[in-house]
Amino acid sequence: MQIHFAPIQGYTDSVFRNAHNKIFGASISKYYTPFIRLEKGSLRKHDKKEADTERNGEMIEKGLLVPQILPSNTEEADILVNELALIGYKEMDINLGCPFPMIAKHHKGCGLLPYPDEIANLLNVTERHKGIRFSIKMRLGLEYKYEWKELVETINNTPLEHVTIHPRTGRQQYRGETDLETYGEMLAAIKHPVVYNGDIVTPDDAHLIMSRYPHTSALMIGRGLLANPCLALEISTRSGIKHEEKKHKIEEFHEILLDGYQKTYDGGEAQILLKMKTLWEYLLPGIEKREKKRITKSKNLQEYIASVQAALMTL
Ligand SMILES: Cc1cc2nc3c(=O)[nH]c(=O)nc-3n(C[C@H](O)[C@H](O)[C@H](O)COP(=O)(O)O)c2cc1C
Repeated sequence: MQIHFAPIQGYTDSVFRNAHNKIFGASISKYYTPFIRLEKGSLRKHDKKEADTERNGEMIEKGLLVPQILPSNTEEADILVNELALIGYKEMDINLGCPFPMIAKHHKGCGLLPYPDEIANLLNVTERHKGIRFSIKMRLGLEYKYEWKELVETINNTPLEHVTIHPRTGRQQYRGETDLETYGEMLAAIKHPVVYNGDIVTPDDAHLIMSRYPHTSALMIGRGLLANPCLALEISTRSGIKHEEKKHKIEEFHEILLDGYQKTYDGGEAQILLKMKTLWEYLLPGIEKREKKRITKSKNLQEYIASVQAALMTL
């Protein structure tokens, strides 16, 4: 079963992706950058640095990394695609799912879903860049769960590698259940390979989706992998992974992450500490509250490392 690592703004940056790929890479067939957008007419500086070969060389070479773009129209898409193609990317994902109100109200992400004409115009970008493989990542709609129906014809007529579906509306953000029934309808209506995304946090969740919807071509997982970086490996090796091996891999992953942020960031200890603490908003939810609190309250890196070591001992 193919598993894609979802883009998560603020978490799956280049350091994170490289560390994950080093320890768990065999279990993931694609990583995506968090959405990349324009600022004053060209690629946002921070996004460019994060997508550049300097930080992603090996993953770009292996074709493992797909940059995700967040354009609101075909002209913006052109600029983004041209700049990313110059870096060396041959595959790109178009974000039609971001639910943040500040983005959606500017007709970006899921804010485009109620406007079939604007989507058709945007997806024309695929006609002008024949050397690039495109995919889209979308929700059911912005307000209503049937908005996708108006888009099927355009989607089916656009050359796409795959369509990733997160079966919620934009208004729902991440609340409420994913709508599997509507996912099934979309899977039947879309002629491209379809990737399922949403709320997979255990191997059982993954196997359930695949047995209910066997035509699903891959699974995309986000928060489940932030919580348990081993999850894709556990899904692909049905027998599971030995507890000690998992613990060892997570320790190694954490070490590489810390080292990576120390080498990449120049904002000093405070910036690295903040970055590392952020990870624990999702990482290892099973760890005792007391141990997590010690990690998030640590005042310097030395204290942080000691509290992480103590927490990992309780795993
Ligand atoms: C904090 C946060 C940031 C996200 N950033 C992005 C993003 O940059 N691009 C994108 O397509 N989706 C983004 N997502 C959505 C995820 O990729 C994914 O679709 C969503 O979390 C549902 O999948 P999951 O239940 O496996 O996490 C983000 C989600 C969260 C919670």
